[in-house]
Amino acid sequence: MKKIQVQDRTFRLYMSAEEIDQAVKQVAARISADYKDKDSKPIVCPVLTGSYMFAADLTRALDFDAEIAFVRFSSYLGMQTTNHVKRVLGFPDKCKGRDVIIVEDIVDSGISMEYMIGELQALEPASISICTFFFKPGNFQKNFPIDYIGKEIPNDFIVGYGLDYDGHGRMYPEVYVLDED
Ligand code: IMP
Ligand code: MG
Repeated sequence: MKKIQVQDRTFRLYMSAEEIDQAVKQVAARISADYKDKDSKPIVCPVLTGSYMFAADLTRALDFDAEIAFVRFSSYLGMQTTNHVKRVLGFPDKCKGRDVIIVEDIVDSGISMEYMIGELQALEPASISICTFFFKPGNFQKNFPIDYIGKEIPNDFIVGYGLDYDGHGRMYPEVYVLDED
């Protein structure tokens, strides 16, 4: 089993680039089908930094011309989520009256996403959809619906495919899970 070292921790291979590709294409196909008959295409808002790789793959696999507007909210320190979500780059005003899809790398406790939904709602979009590549149902503390999920995972800490451990390990095309032993 392939292992990598990120800072002081060891991680083992969890999801190959091929498995990621399949999951991304499934999500993209569902989104494409859902927006097929809409006259106005949605604004896709990927959340920096973690979703940059997923967003690049996802948007390339959509069969429509989506507008893309990156947003940035920060909440995580090391391997701990915090209750303090900070807006670094907010949703653009043009979200008003439009269908908006928020694209995340992972929804864990749901605290960050709930905060972002609140910020976006204030701009009065026509609709809000949530798309996340990974979802940890065991940690989820909220109850907003998640429309598109790439893969549900246990409460393990993962890196790669955009996800980081203290700013490191994002650039791997595969996903690795913390190797406890
Ligand atoms: P939440 O607010 O607890 O849902 O946390 C969401 C954010 O925490 C994500 O956007 C990630 O940046 C980060 N996060 C949660 N779980 C992991 C993980 O397993 N690896 C890396 N980052 C994670
Ligand atoms: Mg994130």
